[in-house]
Amino acid sequence: MVLILSREAVEKVLKMSDCIDAVEKAFGELASNKAVMPLRPTINVDEYEGVSLYMPAYLMETGSLACKIVTVYKNNPQKFNLPTILGTVLLQDPRTGKVICMMEGGIVTAMRTGAVTGVAAKYLARKDSKTIGLFGAGAQGRTQLMAICTVLDIERCKVYDISAEAANRFKQELEPKLGIKIEVASSPIEAMQNGVVITATTSEKPILDGRKLLEGTFVSGIGSHAPTRRELDTETIKRSKLVVDQKSACLAEAGDIVIPIKEGAITEDHVYAELGELVLGKKPGRTNEKEITVFKSVGLAIQDVATAKLVYDKAKEAGVGVELEI
Ligand SMILES: NC(=O)c1ccc[n+]([C@@H]2O[C@H](COP(=O)([O-])OP(=O)(O)OC[C@H]3O[C@@H](n4cnc5c(N)ncnc54)[C@H](O)[C@@H]3O)[C@@H](O)[C@H]2O)c1
Repeated sequence: MVLILSREAVEKVLKMSDCIDAVEKAFGELASNKAVMPLRPTINVDEYEGVSLYMPAYLMETGSLACKIVTVYKNNPQKFNLPTILGTVLLQDPRTGKVICMMEGGIVTAMRTGAVTGVAAKYLARKDSKTIGLFGAGAQGRTQLMAICTVLDIERCKVYDISAEAANRFKQELEPKLGIKIEVASSPIEAMQNGVVITATTSEKPILDGRKLLEGTFVSGIGSHAPTRRELDTETIKRSKLVVDQKSACLAEAGDIVIPIKEGAITEDHVYAELGELVLGKKPGRTNEKEITVFKSVGLAIQDVATAKLVYDKAKEAGVGVELEI
């Protein structure tokens, strides 16, 4: 039997705090060579300005084996009333290879992408951070804020989006849900000057001006994952202690890092650590109140696999979903 989980079913059983724990453990497994994760193949569907990614991984310690198909079609919201990101995860039994669960992957993607920022913030943000500046009031922006509010005692968020309507909707939806004050920022600089700054946009050009970042800021850049696109400018990267989800993946896919290297502003050695090294305690995260820390993530299959296994276990426990023979 295959357990089928809709978006609503996944939302019912998946809590951000559990997701952060599962993703943190997965990064520990990756850093101790207990994960198998090939670099993801990508197909560009240029006629429709879409990208399709195939993301498999196996986590040996937790016995989690899965593959996610995820697509990023930036015209979906306007043209088809569909989200930019769509996905489906197939979870397998590692003992037999049998697919045991198929779940909606858009929510898995959003939750695990929030969760990785949550893990990074634990090691890289100042513990006394009270304010967050968020760029991008879309699907990822929502879970980014949820994750930061899970690991830090946040009181206020300034959200900036090129669509004022999206920013206002975001405020109305999340202010009551998270119990924090959310203000719509009228300029990027207003969002940039906070203890935590998150970029979760579809922008292809830098949205941060690194000269204007305050000392002690923690930045998480999750929006771009193509070598020609970036949200963080060269100055932001240059000024930062730079941590990545995976160095090889970021050197292949993160314009935020690849472009400054091409410009000669930094070398590959500017990457201080991979997140898993902080999780395992191999390297310290933030070491003083003044450093600017940047976490750059292009998104790894281990995050999806860890989250999918968590969802499956919780759904079985709660009797959620529909079982089908295929
Ligand atoms: N790193 C990862 O693991 C990961 C995971 C999922 C998605 N993503 C990426 O995150 C990005 C956002 O995804 P989403 O699902 O939230 O998309 P979305 O379309 O729901 O939201 C994106 C928002 O960004 C806003 N925006 C675009 N340009 C902007 C700018 N210059 N300044 C401020 N706001 C701007 C848009 O108006 C929109 O509201 C995408 O590029 C996606 O590919 C990365």
